[in-house]
Order: sequence, then C-alpha cells, then structure tokens
Amino acid sequence: MKKWYAVLGDPIAQSMSPTMHDQWFLENEWNASYIPILVTPENLGQAIQSLRTLGCSGWNVTVPHKQAIIPFLDEVDEAAAHMNAVNTVYRTADGKLVGTNTDGRGFVKSLQEFAGESENNSVLLIGAGGAARGIAHALQSAGYGPLYFTNRTTSKAAELASEMENAHVLSVEQAQQKMGEFGLVVQTTSVGMNFAQSGMPLHPKGVSKDAVVADIIYNPLETEFLREARLAGAKTMNGVGMFVHQGALAFEKWTNVYPNTKKMIQTITMKVGG
Ligand code: ATR
Repeated sequence: MKKWYAVLGDPIAQSMSPTMHDQWFLENEWNASYIPILVTPENLGQAIQSLRTLGCSGWNVTVPHKQAIIPFLDEVDEAAAHMNAVNTVYRTADGKLVGTNTDGRGFVKSLQEFAGESENNSVLLIGAGGAARGIAHALQSAGYGPLYFTNRTTSKAAELASEMENAHVLSVEQAQQKMGEFGLVVQTTSVGMNFAQSGMPLHPKGVSKDAVVADIIYNPLETEFLREARLAGAKTMNGVGMFVHQGALAFEKWTNVYPNTKKMIQTITMKVGG
C-alpha cells in the first residue's frame, strides 16, 4: 500500500520539505507521498491523534511545534531529549511514535560533505539557543573541539558551555579578538541576516583563511555575515546543506536509505536563488 508522510508547521506553505522528500521517494522508487499540513498550536494534539489513527508513516515537525509535540509522542530518543526538541517522528515495528532530532547531525554531515577533515577543530558557536545546542552536541560527538560559545546574552552561553566537556564561554569582544584562531565558526542566530544592525559587535574580519564559516540560514543563500566572511577570505557554507542533510537523516529513519544529497543541495540552492 502507498505510504504517506507529512510536515507539520505554522506557517507551512513555504516549506521545501515536500519537494525534497517527494523527489527522493521517486529516485528511490519508494511508493509514498509527502504533504505539508498547516497545524495551529491549539490543534497540535488533535493533529497528532489523527496522524496516528490515519496511519501516517512518519513526519517532520517545524516551527512552532518542535517542543510542544513531545508530550503527544510515545518516546523521544537521546538526540531529541538532549535538545528538548523534535524535528522528525517515525513509527517502530510495534506502532510506537518516536521523536528524534536530526538538525545537529544534519549540520555535521553537511560540514563533512563540504569541507572534509580539518586540522583545526576549534569551534566558535555564535548563539546559545536550541540550534546552537543541537549543533554543539553533534559537533562534539563527531570529535570537534574545543568549543567556544559566544552570545548576546553571555549568561546563556555560559549555561550551555557548562553542560558540556571541553566547552568554554567567550564575551563577544573576546570572541572577536580570538577570531583568527578558530577552524570553524558557526553562526546560529538570526543576526546572520543583518548583523551590522543587530547591535552584536561581532564581525568575521580576522578569520583564518583556512577556516570554514557557516551560517545555518539558507534564505537568503548568503547572509551578510557569510558575505563578510567570504570577503575576509574564509570558506563559507550556507544552511542549505544542513537543511538537506537533516531531511536525509529523516528519510533514512523512514526508509533505511540515505538519499542523494549533493544533487538535492543543487536543486534547493536553485529554488532559493530563484
Ligand atoms: P533557535 O532555536 O533558532 O536557536 P532560540 O532558542 O530562540 O532560537 O535562540 C535564538 C538565539 O539567537 C539566541 O542565542 C539569541 O540571543 P539571546 O540569548 O541573547 O537572546 C540570538 N539572537 C536573536 N536575535 C538576536 C539579535 N538581534 N542579536 C544578537 N543575538 C540574537
């Protein structure tokens, strides 16, 4: 029987996940469809109950439901528990709904595909929200470190650093001074869009030419922060790869196949770039 999958969010019309997963279903001859479903916060519980009853095989979860969905699931795995957020749901053989989170590992896979191995594994993470937490845990599991956190609100960066080994907090000014020492700089906040006006006095100038500077935003393809990093001579990576690999990890959970990500990165880049 044909299977079906979904993405739940509010808003949802802009999501590129249906295009991506439908393409992968075709490429891998998996008899399935993937549909966007607009779910408002007050309808979330009812929506999950409906998906359960109607036999949806798995789904993605986006803003604003990533935390709110947790009580409606049967289990969350370690990645979702660490992040206290779910972006993917799958069913076990005995019908349980399990929440996982592929965002952090999606970032690391995209980094490995983009940059390969690096000699300098010292990382500056800008931001201390949910995205920074997931990426930091995944980077550490993949052997990156030491990790340095900097954030507009330094106390939040300090809290995150205290949860992890080999992690430190830097004031924005200290991060600026050390900019040349990092092998990887990851911008996880909305500051990347318009950092000159954000009031956050952090600039990629002084970054090492061997460093990778990543921004998790993918629309626009090049944030102001990335543009400055490119002009400073760094290798820059936008958020398309992370988006595609978090989706690929979800796809793998559902089908046991890791789909073609390189071609998909080109497709999504073209769609975003217009
Ligand atoms: P996400 O889940 O996307 O990481 P979040 O948990 O709300 O979202 O975290 C947002 C991050 O962006 C935080 O690090 C936040 O900084 P504060 O902790 O100081 O609030 C950061 N951020 C958002 N807007 C910002 C701005 N205009 N300037 C600097 N940092 C900003």
